[in-house]
Amino acid sequence: MLRSRWWLTSAALALLGCGGPFPQSTLAPRSDFARATDVLFRDIFWWAAAVFVVVELLLIIALVRFRHREGRAAPRPAHGHTILEIAWTLAPAVILVFVAVPTVRTIFTTAGEDIPPNALKVEVVGHQWWWEYKYPDLGIATANEMHVPVGKPVQVAITSADVIHSFWAPVLGGKRDAIPGHVNYIAFSADSVGDYSGQCAEFCGASHGNMRLRVLVDRDSAFQAWVDEQKGGPATPPKASLAEQGKAVFSRSACIGCHTIQGVSPGIIGPNLTHVGSRITVAAGLFPNDSAHLASWIADAPSLKPGVLMTRMKPPLTDADIAAVVAYLQSLK
Ligand code: CUA
Repeated sequence: MLRSRWWLTSAALALLGCGGPFPQSTLAPRSDFARATDVLFRDIFWWAAAVFVVVELLLIIALVRFRHREGRAAPRPAHGHTILEIAWTLAPAVILVFVAVPTVRTIFTTAGEDIPPNALKVEVVGHQWWWEYKYPDLGIATANEMHVPVGKPVQVAITSADVIHSFWAPVLGGKRDAIPGHVNYIAFSADSVGDYSGQCAEFCGASHGNMRLRVLVDRDSAFQAWVDEQKGGPATPPKASLAEQGKAVFSRSACIGCHTIQGVSPGIIGPNLTHVGSRITVAAGLFPNDSAHLASWIADAPSLKPGVLMTRMKPPLTDADIAAVVAYLQSLK
């Protein structure tokens, strides 16, 4: 009774696990890079499946044909059969060639270093635990949410400011390590508009699991609108508003030591907040960018993201001050 219940529960869980949705499936490629690795995976999968079928078939034949029967002598082992030995050495070698040639070819075509001259360049810097994005040709700096135009070549140059991270947006392409003092590249051209999630794929400390990212693939016009918004200076809150009070609180608090807001503060330890109001999420994709989450983040970030550099403020901000800072940050579109 107990055992059948165990089986039923396991089967139900397995079925549920297969149900999706799978926002981070490498089997649903949305770029040329992801498609190249997907084709490679499928090719090798069928080679492996064929090998499996042949080997299992031979195994079953041997088990049935040579199994022990009353009164039958044990079969004689084959010894010194040169042709047989050459054959079973060559067969796997040939199969490996069929696997290795497309693999090596794909590694070179997706190295990301040869790019068309019109490619959009994005520099990614991994930090414990968030992603910094810089667009050197556009003069834009942002965090955690990368915007790219659909159908255009993009080159992402990946490095790290502290430990090794790994940049991974599965539907757009394979993961690449973010290594301090070294630059790795990904080049891709996204083929459909969307909001694609990803995450750090290399254990990098206490909040490795909280180091998410998003790549927003925009239509040309939407991408241009985003660029214009990011390039414009910071929004100025209206006079005598709660947001203006928030700006004053921000400017006299420890916030300025770590965060840049253009024209207000120069910090470079945490994410650039010049246009933080235009992001969908905060805290490296952990929470929706709304008042409640922003307020609890400002009040006590370490309880939401273990190990985070942003400490509780001493003395703590009052609830009124926090509400004002939240209004200010939300005004920074
Ligand atoms: Cu960064 Cu794991």
